Amino acid sequence: MLERVQASVRASLAGVKHVVVVLSGKGGVGKSLVSASLAVGLSLLGKRAAVLDADIHGSSIPWMLGLEEARVAVRGDKLVPPEVRGVAVMSLELLAEDRGAPLVWRGPLKAKAIIDMLTATEWGERDYLVVDLPPGTGDEPLTIAQALGAKGGYAILVVAPGLLVKHVVAKAERFARELNLKLLGVVANMAYFRCPACGAVHRPLGRLEVGESRVLAEIPLDPELADAIDRGELAGYVASSTSEAARALRGLAATVAGAVEAG
Ligand SMILES: Nc1ncnc2c1ncn2[C@@H]1O[C@H](COP(=O)(O)OP(=O)(O)OP(=O)(O)O)[C@@H](O)[C@H]1O
Ligand SMILES: [Mg+2]
Repeated sequence: MLERVQASVRASLAGVKHVVVVLSGKGGVGKSLVSASLAVGLSLLGKRAAVLDADIHGSSIPWMLGLEEARVAVRGDKLVPPEVRGVAVMSLELLAEDRGAPLVWRGPLKAKAIIDMLTATEWGERDYLVVDLPPGTGDEPLTIAQALGAKGGYAILVVAPGLLVKHVVAKAERFARELNLKLLGVVANMAYFRCPACGAVHRPLGRLEVGESRVLAEIPLDPELADAIDRGELAGYVASSTSEAARALRGLAATVAGAVEAG
């Protein structure tokens, strides 16, 4: 069963060079923001990128990227995702008839719907597919990552300070090992806040202890970023804002590409 699923995922991703799954210990730490920004940042570096919104609970990527009105096109028996700045974006939200209606499927069905969507999509030639997995290391992220597993690939972990981060890192390491994914490191989101008046750095959520893990990027709290997300203008923000957070997000893409392409 799993082998058959893996075979069809492999076939559907034949034109995709690298898969990067984005993990988090829990919801609300910025996993979708990081997934979408990473795909945009990779595209800015000239990579052909796609992002798969595989988090069925918090399906927010189409909104962040201003695609809430966009639709998936159908070509033969394949789904063709809409694009933003060259990034192909796939999400169940882009298939739903009634946008905004909560999806009330239970776990196994949800994971299956995501995998069906993944295999029905015409991904084309892509250097990177970034996957926003459901939070945690439970059944849903596991099922989806397992289906992707045949492809191998990379993982990054998004954390915010003050959430027993060491514990979360250890779990993510185990998850990645079991699934044959290479954990590239940790993205520390909401890591600090720089006072716009005096430039002093505050760490309102506490310090971040990630043990031995590599910190790929530290993203500060930035009201301008929160605003861009709310307005569906995240892609423009990542591409052209001169803020520290935007530079950190672009730096993340460069770091990830560097690590992946070094082998
Ligand atoms: N660095 C930041 N600066 C300002 N606001 C932020 C930052 N990171 C996240 N946020 C805010 O937190 C919200 C949640 O981020 P996001 O949706 O990426 O989290 P998530 O981990 O995907 O959550 P979920 O579990 O709900 O899917 C964003 O809409 C944004 O308002
Ligand atoms: Mg999310």
